[in-house]
Amino acid sequence: MASTGLTVAVTGPTGDLGLSIVDALERSRAVKRIVGMARRPFDPAERGWRKTEYRQGDVTDAASVRALVKDAHVVVHLAFAILDASDSTRELNVKGSRRVFEEAVKAGTERICYASSVAAYGFHDDNPDWLTEQIPARGSREHPYSQQKADVEQVLAATLLNRRRTIAYVFRPCIVAGPEARTMLQEIPYFRLGEAMPDLVVRLLGSLPALRPVIPDPGARFQLVHSEDVARAFVAGVRGVGEPGPYNLAAGGTLTFSHLAAALGWYSVPIPKLAVEATAEIATRLPMAPDSIAWLHSVRKPVLMKTDRARRLLKWRPQHTARRTLDEMVRAQREELLA
Ligand SMILES: NC(=O)c1ccc[n+]([C@@H]2O[C@H](COP(=O)([O-])OP(=O)(O)OC[C@H]3O[C@@H](n4cnc5c(N)ncnc54)[C@H](OP(=O)(O)O)[C@@H]3O)[C@@H](O)[C@H]2O)c1
Repeated sequence: MASTGLTVAVTGPTGDLGLSIVDALERSRAVKRIVGMARRPFDPAERGWRKTEYRQGDVTDAASVRALVKDAHVVVHLAFAILDASDSTRELNVKGSRRVFEEAVKAGTERICYASSVAAYGFHDDNPDWLTEQIPARGSREHPYSQQKADVEQVLAATLLNRRRTIAYVFRPCIVAGPEARTMLQEIPYFRLGEAMPDLVVRLLGSLPALRPVIPDPGARFQLVHSEDVARAFVAGVRGVGEPGPYNLAAGGTLTFSHLAAALGWYSVPIPKLAVEATAEIATRLPMAPDSIAWLHSVRKPVLMKTDRARRLLKWRPQHTARRTLDEMVRAQREELLA
């Protein structure tokens, strides 16, 4: 029986995912009150939120976290450093998450809903083509975000060991996109890949008419999920639907960089997968390589997820396909540029 009258504490309510999740919690009749916390100033009323109080605070600060989770039936943990993840973000990502989980347990929270990621699985050559939740989330050592996501899942499991009162839903979305979740347009691995492109590829690209940007397509497939669909899964977790545990989240259909190019009205050109692999191999051996180069691995070893568990236990039915999610995101970006 799903809960009602809930108080929900949310870390990171102002990010790509947080905005959609709080929108959905605002609409949920099961939720009475929402308390959000992030570092920068933010006014919930400007967003039209009526159940939400916002406070400035940092997940690395014990007192802020304690005050946030006090009286919460459910804690939604989203705050994380993603694209700039490196050894120096362990304090925020791993220790900060541990603090949130420990304080939630101490406060007697019933459920923790944590945003892990597909990256928690790691980009391993022996991964199956389609990942299910039965595959261990091992992380990839050479990719700090991936490793920290895997480590945080272990921290959460260890924190809840032998605890009866608090259970956890661990969501593993693929790349989140949508009209309000457009980080990938600037930060998708490909754009960072451009910084470390091998000469061969640069020459190949340079020989094409430079009328529009060109996206090299190594043929790797990727998934997208709409931020509103991720929010639907979180609301199910907040309400205590189904069972706790890990849940893969991805929209129907897969995309390649050629789809991305077409949606943007750009060109795409096939490039040998070997060129990507060689770059990733060299990049990880450079002692001073920028952290962003680690993202190469997500192009080198694609990770695709099955979502049967969420569909079966949470009755999760994503409303947007990957293609539609991409189109909506690009349209929103265009409208903003033209405005
Ligand atoms: N976006 C994706 O494609 C994607 C995919 C899979 C999983 N996820 C996971 O989903 C979660 C949310 O992602 P997102 O895309 O919404 O991230 P985001 O857009 O970067 O937002 C991060 C949120 O966390 C807050 N925050 C950051 N550091 C904080 C700190 N030290 N203390 C308190 N708040 C802090 C940020 O606000 P301030 O900067 O103002 O503090 C912001 O509200 C993350 O755990 C991420 O790993 C995201």
